[in-house]
Amino acid sequence: MDFPQKLRTLFSPRSKSYKDMVELLAQRRAARILVVDDNPDTMMLMRELLQIRGYDVVAVPDASHAEAEIRHQLPDLILSDVVMPGKSGYEFCRELKENPSTRLIPFVLITGLSDREDKLHGIEAGADDFLNKPIFAEELFARVKSLLKLKEFTDELESAESVLCTLGLSVESRDPYTEGHCERLAQNASNLGRHLGLDEEAIVALRRGGYLHDLGKIAVPDEILKKGSNLTPEEWEVMKQHPITGENICRPLKSLRLILPIIRHHHEHTDGSGYPDGLRKRDIPLLPRVLQVVDVYDALRTARPYKPALSHDQSAITMREEARAGLWDEELVGEFFSMLEKRQVA
Ligand SMILES: [Fe+2]
Repeated sequence: MDFPQKLRTLFSPRSKSYKDMVELLAQRRAARILVVDDNPDTMMLMRELLQIRGYDVVAVPDASHAEAEIRHQLPDLILSDVVMPGKSGYEFCRELKENPSTRLIPFVLITGLSDREDKLHGIEAGADDFLNKPIFAEELFARVKSLLKLKEFTDELESAESVLCTLGLSVESRDPYTEGHCERLAQNASNLGRHLGLDEEAIVALRRGGYLHDLGKIAVPDEILKKGSNLTPEEWEVMKQHPITGENICRPLKSLRLILPIIRHHHEHTDGSGYPDGLRKRDIPLLPRVLQVVDVYDALRTARPYKPALSHDQSAITMREEARAGLWDEELVGEFFSMLEKRQVA
């Protein structure tokens, strides 16, 4: 059974989740290579050699043109000269490697044959490989081929993550009252992460956590999921499994390692009364505590069949009371509302 067929067994082909996933799988195309070199002869030589091999090549004379191309469409590989007008190849490489949306694009620096210093600078800047001048066709093809293979692996990982996020959204779509919940959570959690001064990796994890935290509810039957409150003890036991199920689904993907604690611990309470592990206070990792604050606020602000939506002020009072009573991290609740107030003023 091929993968789309497997998907069909999970979802109706008319459903949005199914279409999103098949679209993802169909996005195969010629690899796009960005060549950056101010020397017209080198630029033309690389472009012609790579085009003959069937690659989609864009050649530009400097980093600023390259940045415009990257904004237009992300390349699969960048081959860049070191000395160019404007930004050097090192600066250009370093900036791309510091940006989460471009850091996985393989970057090859084109250096002089014996420039050991150049290579050391390049390694510091985060370059993935080097190509010596003068350029020999076979060496160029070998480098390009192996780095594109690497890029294919990372793309497959990204696709797997996107499929999981789509599954997270499909869980949300089973309950009409939670529409838009994942998107709001992803947005607010990453905003709160930024407000707290967390690093970019943690912010990306919070954003993904917004989509993936309740993925394990895929194993919770509709009649329990939609019931909300008044669950029987047996139903409650089923519901309490969802953080563990979600963690098990995502564990094989190493790239999701920072999200695993968010998935597992987003229902812990600071007084130890939460689930699944009954962790207390700072034993609960920071990222699930951050997501939790945002999650609780969103739940209070949303109407459900068994409760009306609270106003912003009512939600703030309730959350501060509950934090004092030992449910949520009091400091983070304070930071969350100070962030919202600042944004309102801005
Ligand atoms: Fe949950």
